[in-house]
Amino acid sequence: MSKPLVDQHGRVVRDLRISVTPRCNYACFYCDPLGDGAPDPIGTISVEDVDVILTAAVELGIESVRFTGGEPLLRKELPEMVHLAKRVHGIEDVALTTNASLLARRLDDLIEAGLDRINVSLDAADAEAFREATGGGTIQQVWDGIHAAEAAGMTPIKINAVVVRNINDEQLVPLAELTRDRDWHVRFIEYMHLNNADPDAYEKHFVSGKESRARIEAAVGALTPVETDPSAPARLFRAEGFAGALGFIDPVSNPFCGACSRMRVTSDAKLRPCLLTDREYSMREALNAEDPLPAVIDAFLVAAHRKVASGITTPVERDRTMVAIGG
Ligand code: 5AD
Repeated sequence: MSKPLVDQHGRVVRDLRISVTPRCNYACFYCDPLGDGAPDPIGTISVEDVDVILTAAVELGIESVRFTGGEPLLRKELPEMVHLAKRVHGIEDVALTTNASLLARRLDDLIEAGLDRINVSLDAADAEAFREATGGGTIQQVWDGIHAAEAAGMTPIKINAVVVRNINDEQLVPLAELTRDRDWHVRFIEYMHLNNADPDAYEKHFVSGKESRARIEAAVGALTPVETDPSAPARLFRAEGFAGALGFIDPVSNPFCGACSRMRVTSDAKLRPCLLTDREYSMREALNAEDPLPAVIDAFLVAAHRKVASGITTPVERDRTMVAIGG
């Protein structure tokens, strides 16, 4: 490893998120993916691209890699990518963000390949509310995926829910209740304006972490803070007598840019220094070069240097929406 990748504000970039497809088998309110029937667009990162990107990342001191989408399990080559990250490039922490609907039957391969952790995106706990929130998803498949992960020892299970008023805010308490008897972490994420929603509509749909917490406390009693890594985005709490933990990730009301250690690779091979800023640096030419590694390392250095001090959380027209950026 050479020197760590430090941005202009002194933050060390340690975590890389790689979106491996803009396709998803769900159609959630806040996201507009390509359907799962469509092929990946030309230029979607290949296993070979991922290999070079990981070589560069390790050279630059990246310690953790998370594969996202779209829905990453729609890529049949995902285990190969995980294998490259963990077994070939020796990345310490290899994680996956998934809706878990296709997880049960793929989990063994992923674990064999070296997958360390998963985060499951789950915006509702009741079957009907889930079907509506996802545009037709079957929650039982998600439970099967989660239970498979639990049985395989991938604990604690971390579940992420984006809270959107009039879409799934009635699910705050049912989601929180999942942690009563299970040692899962259920984390509520503030809805970010990443989908070019009409600003007024966005304001109406936005629910602050403070409100979410108050609504949960009204139902289950006071939440007590649990000691957490101060640089982690989620503040964790526990309800009296509950086995699991509840977390609140408040990127809008309480941005955590000061502790940002991330960089993203979009599914079309662009480095995106900040989720909430429309700045991207294409690696396509570098990846297609005869000797791609130095060019890709250069792209990382440029992108890291262009990380802004803090991203834009207010509604603005964005060049690109969440689905191809990767969560
Ligand atoms: N605001 C907050 N979270 C979002 N996600 C996708 N779009 C948004 C948004 N606009 C979340 C997904 C998933 C992760 C990949 O990112 O729900 O948990």
